[in-house]
Amino acid sequence: MKEIRVGMIGMGGMANSHMENMSRLEGVRITALCDSASEAVNRAGDKLGIPAARRFEQYSDLIACDEVDAVLSITPNNVHFGIVKCCLQQGKAIMTEKPFTRTYEEACELNQLYLANPIPSMVGFSYRYVPSFRYARDLIKQGKLGQIRHVFVQYLQSWGVPVYDTPMNWRYRSEITGTGALADLGSHMVDVARFMIGEFDEVSAHMKTFITNRRDPAAGAEGTVDVDDFTGFLATLDSQVTGVFQTSRNAYGSGNQLELTIYGELGTILVGCERGNELIWIHPNEEHQASVVTEVQKVPSKYELTQMQDFFDMVRGHVREELPTIVDGYANQEVLEAIYQAAINKRTVSLEQFRSNHLAAAGGER
Ligand SMILES: NC(=O)c1ccc[n+]([C@@H]2O[C@H](COP(=O)([O-])OP(=O)(O)OC[C@H]3O[C@@H](n4cnc5c(N)ncnc54)[C@H](O)[C@@H]3O)[C@@H](O)[C@H]2O)c1
Repeated sequence: MKEIRVGMIGMGGMANSHMENMSRLEGVRITALCDSASEAVNRAGDKLGIPAARRFEQYSDLIACDEVDAVLSITPNNVHFGIVKCCLQQGKAIMTEKPFTRTYEEACELNQLYLANPIPSMVGFSYRYVPSFRYARDLIKQGKLGQIRHVFVQYLQSWGVPVYDTPMNWRYRSEITGTGALADLGSHMVDVARFMIGEFDEVSAHMKTFITNRRDPAAGAEGTVDVDDFTGFLATLDSQVTGVFQTSRNAYGSGNQLELTIYGELGTILVGCERGNELIWIHPNEEHQASVVTEVQKVPSKYELTQMQDFFDMVRGHVREELPTIVDGYANQEVLEAIYQAAINKRTVSLEQFRSNHLAAAGGER
């Protein structure tokens, strides 16, 4: 098996999770690291035994490094664009974290570059790798639920509630993050809905910031939060499916609660990432159609696949159709922008109309 030499950019919280997942794979070796904070890159470099010559503070140096075959970008959202663009220009394989970009314009530009010159790419929509989500998708594709009528999707976390006194950080600043809960958690909701149900046709939305000022130890004063703590939206997907979505980082008692309930004409499926090996299937009794059967199923092992395994298989040339590429990142960012526009303008946004308005404004270039 060909060894893949990996360069990682961004040595924060999520990098640890990717390192742990990679440590379980054969034929993958971390050869270079980058972080704009020298202490972060040195701490990780010492731990992994990476020589000083392959510890970088500029991501372009890591991407240009001859001893890197594939790049992982695990930086704050405003850095994603530059890293992906540099990988596209240099033809290096990239796994870039979600949300795809900070702005829709950035997503459009990267999508154009990608379509003109594709590279092996993955956007970190990690919940495609929850076994029960993959199983649910398969059951839907097999027609087990019949026509899907409506879905309820929620992604709730609690770290923003006052009792935790979470200080200002980049996730509360639009110039770094884009939107708040919407970009952070909503991007996953949009992705799993696209993964299981289909494309978004129209959206209406409501966004709310509950805590507008947070202590900012770095500045020694209070900082102003200019992104959403909560976003709710209604959507039509795949021409005929109604969706109700909510996301919050201020949902007291929630851990990492991404859940979907999918209502079809022949049954209902409930899945959640916190119990990723279990699927609840509610359907009529075969003999007595009027009586309801609730089955808690263990997900068959064939639905197990890790995100990192899928990424490195793609780098080696084995591409699975469900892998989220730059095209999915672009489509996701388009829906996020439509939701944002719907919320600030207090009106329903048709994705088709949104696209053609954008095309006209861009002078028909895309
Ligand atoms: N897929 C998921 O479920 C998931 C979960 C958590 C985070 N994420 C995503 O991962 C990304 C990183 O999140 P995190 O929690 O690790 O953040 P973090 O703040 O813990 O770490 C970010 C790191 O990037 C470094 N950095 C900042 N600017 C840089 C630059 N220009 N060049 C190089 N390094 C730079 C910082 O110094 C820091 O060490 C975010 O986009 C986030 O949305 C995804």
